[in-house]
Amino acid sequence: MTTFVTLEQIDQAADAIRKRTSCRPRVGLILGSGLNSLADSVKKPDILPYAELPNWPISTVQGHVGRLVIGELEGQTVLVMQGRIHYYEGYSMSQITLPVRAMLRLGLEMMFVTNAAGGVNPDFVPGDVMLITDHLNLIGMTGANPLMGPNIDELGPRFPDMSQAYDPKLMKTAHRVAVTENLQLREGVYCALSGPSFEGPADLRFLRLAGADAVGMSTVPEVIVARHGGMRVLGFSGISNKANLDGSTTTTHEEVIEAGKIIAPKMEKIIRGVLRAL
Ligand code: HPA
Repeated sequence: MTTFVTLEQIDQAADAIRKRTSCRPRVGLILGSGLNSLADSVKKPDILPYAELPNWPISTVQGHVGRLVIGELEGQTVLVMQGRIHYYEGYSMSQITLPVRAMLRLGLEMMFVTNAAGGVNPDFVPGDVMLITDHLNLIGMTGANPLMGPNIDELGPRFPDMSQAYDPKLMKTAHRVAVTENLQLREGVYCALSGPSFEGPADLRFLRLAGADAVGMSTVPEVIVARHGGMRVLGFSGISNKANLDGSTTTTHEEVIEAGKIIAPKMEKIIRGVLRAL
């Protein structure tokens, strides 16, 4: 039985956050596997463990901390999700996206989302940072869309447009920051699968033919819900491993976390620069 969260449950979570911080955040940041360290730079942080928030799904994956850090970063008020929840953990799509809906009810204007991903584009190498220009919603195409179930009209329309899911202006700013910081910023299409098994060689050859540049197990459900509610979105993939198109190498979670150490400082510079430019 699929569990659909209600507006009341979302508001309970949002109200609990409001009561625990006087900060009124403008930008939400969701940090992916091995990319948690940016939250440690938040000034005057209010720290809210997910376990203390009503209806909030709890992340169970190594490398995901599981708390909100609310405060200031580069002159902006931010709400950082240090650790996200994935569909493969067994929650419904509606449950894993409750945090984004709470952001909407708290009045956040923007969401910056990061993830670790496999590089499907043969030009990409581990350690690269990719700006997400569009996504391939393969989980959604198989019926697992976070907007399934009764539409919450207070948040957005039944049939939301996704033609520009990733904000063109924010993307331009990210590219400008990358140039200023002398960092290479790739760009491309992120494909979301459910995981938790990594893709096999035939999966990956299919994804490449379908136009994917990177593949991962998150982000797209969050982006759909954010766009449903009218938030502007910016997304980055950290390329943690090369997709194994010929079956000659293996992929491990440890490798993904290890690559995060190279990726995180680059991604942080770009995100900080975009925050400063807002
Ligand atoms: N596939 C799916 N998800 C991932 C990968 C991958 O190769 N690397 C990091 N997350």
